[in-house]
Formats: sequence, structure tokens, C-alpha cells
Amino acid sequence: KQEHKESLFIALNYAKDFFIEKMTKTSEGKSVGIGYFKERGFHNQTIENFELGYSLNQWDAFEKAALQKGFKEDILEAAGLIMRKEDRKYDRFRSRVMFPIHNLAGRVIAFGARTLKKDDKPKYLNSPETEVYHKSDVLYGIFQAKNALRMEDNALLVEGYTDVLSLHQSGIENVVASSGTALTEGQIKLVKRFTNNMTVLYDGDEAGIKASLRGTDLILEQGMDVRVVVLPEGQDPDSYCRELGGQRFKEYIDKHARDFILFKTDVLLKGAENDPIKKANVTRDIVQSIAKIPDPIKQSVFYKECAKLLNIPEELLISEGEKIKQKVI
Ligand code: GTP
Ligand code: MN
Ligand code: MN
Ligand code: MN
Ligand code: MN
Repeated sequence: KQEHKESLFIALNYAKDFFIEKMTKTSEGKSVGIGYFKERGFHNQTIENFELGYSLNQWDAFEKAALQKGFKEDILEAAGLIMRKEDRKYDRFRSRVMFPIHNLAGRVIAFGARTLKKDDKPKYLNSPETEVYHKSDVLYGIFQAKNALRMEDNALLVEGYTDVLSLHQSGIENVVASSGTALTEGQIKLVKRFTNNMTVLYDGDEAGIKASLRGTDLILEQGMDVRVVVLPEGQDPDSYCRELGGQRFKEYIDKHARDFILFKTDVLLKGAENDPIKKANVTRDIVQSIAKIPDPIKQSVFYKECAKLLNIPEELLISEGEKIKQKVI
């Protein structure tokens, strides 16, 4: 079993090298692959640091090369690198820029692959779940971020691959991406090995704000301190960091980071102030979040603050919270 895993690692590492070579040594790779990253403003240093590559516009360029190298077909398939349809086999990743996904030790466990065509679906094609890739336990950029997570004692959580690249390039290295899905317990535990603080940066649109509310209770449950930053409408961390530059982007984050529970209270309260039923529901929702905080001192601070915001007696919130906790246990 371990032996089998090891051969997947070796195949994935070979694929990573293959995609780098195709990007840097072929005319297609240079014009299309490097051209794409350059047009987005990514430097060679960033491309090398994240081991970015390019998959050629051919059905089986990778498969052929790997078989020639002596890799077994079933290993390539188990690693998620080739697909099989009836008796036909072909490369999973074709004509895309390649983002290797590394584990904590820096080994490649999967790929994210972005199309270069506008409106092509999916925009990002990911490796399937494999023996070495459990999507729900992985955060993109964790290997490159781990020292900075400790040093800064804070993790910036973004949505996408290019958000991670941009922030790194601007000198902000304590950043990881959930790759567009809601945060999982496994991912939170991974971050908790390095820091107890998380700042969630989401895109400045309705979906981004909703996403920042979802999944965040899970972070509270793990005893992490969570802050939220909403970016200006239409911006994601990549675009906004590019616009402001690293220094000013950092200042923006520091200035706009708000405690998650107070933020959630504000967001939910908007439009509910004059509606008693809505307000009651909001209150229950907030109390649910507070009840999940393991530290009783922090809990009591939040009951006090939220009582003010909601204009509801603190004692009432506390007793509701106690009821919720008893139900859970
Ligand atoms: P760019 O358009 O390259 O700037 O990417 P982005 O990171 O800004 O993309 P977006 O905000 O649309 O999505 C955020 C993240 O969600 C991406 O980085 C991917 O990890 C993931 N994602 C987006 N689209 C898809 C998709 O079609 N399939 C899958 N599996 N993941 C996606
Ligand atoms: Mn797992
Ligand atoms: Mn799994
Ligand atoms: Mn985005
Ligand atoms: Mn983007």
C-alpha cells in the first residue's frame, strides 16, 4: 500500500517536471503557457516557486512520454493523470496551465489546471480524489506558506490559486486557498498546526459575503479566532492586490478585518431591524455561532458585544446559548 502510494508520488512528480519542461522548452509552451502567466503579471520567480507548468494541446503527449519512461499505465490512472474511456486512453490535462498542489512536505499530490479559452468549462479542472489526494484535507499553497503562517501567526484564507500567487508575489506569504469550496474540518486542522488566527478574504460580491458566512462556524468550533475582510465589489484578492500593491493591500486588510461574529451580526441585521420575526431568527443564528466558541471568556465577550448590536438583554442570549449547548451534548 505504502509502496503503491510512493509510486503515485513519483508519477505525479514526473508529471510536474513534464509540464514545466513543456512550458519552458517548447514553442507552444513558451508562447501559450508562459505567455499566459506573463500577461497576468506573474514573475519567473513565482512560476518557479509554485512549479507552474503547461500541458500541450495533444491527446496523449504525457501518456506517451510516461510510458516510454517506464511508468505503468495503471499507476498513471490511479494518480489521476490519464483517463480511460472504453479502450481509449488519453491525458486528463490538455492545453491548460498547470498548478501543482503540494502537501506539507512539498510533494506534488494533485493538479489544478486552468483553461486558456474564455468561457471554456470547467475553468479549472482538478485531479480526482486519489490515494494521495483527499481534496477536503488539502489547502493550496500550504507548503509555500507554512513558515509565514507561524511568523505572522495568522492565515489569510482566499478562494483561488491565482489569489495565492499574487499575494506571494507581493510579499504576503501567509496565504492559503480553499480552492473555491467551503472550508472543511480537515483544512482547519491543517492551519491550526501553524496558527490559531484566520482572516478570511472573499470576493467583494454577494456570493463572496455569503461564502464568508458559511463554513466559518466550523472555524469557531475549532477554537480559532476568525476575522473577515470583504473586498470592494468586483475585486478578488489577486486583482485588488495587483491594483494596490502589497503594502497598501496589507494595510487594507489590517484596516478592514472585522471579527467574524460581529461582522455576521451586522450582515444579518441589515434589513431585519424593523422585522421582529427576522430579528428573532438572526438572534438565534448569532447565538448558535457564539455557543460554538470553546473558550468561555471569549464567549462572554461576544455575548456582551452582540447584545449591544442586537439590542437584546445579554442574559437572554447567554441562557439561549446554554440551551443550544445542552442540545448538542
Ligand atoms: P482566475 O479566473 O484565473 O483569476 O481564477 P479565480 O481563482 O479568480 O477563479 P474564481 O474566483 O472563479 O474561483 C475561485 C477558485 O474556485 C478557483 O481558483 C478554483 O480553485 C475554483 N474553481 C473555479 N472554477 C472552477 C471550476 O470550474 N471547477 C473547479 N473544480 N474549481 C473551480
Ligand atoms: Mn484524508
Ligand atoms: Mn477522500
Ligand atoms: Mn476569484
Ligand atoms: Mn481571479
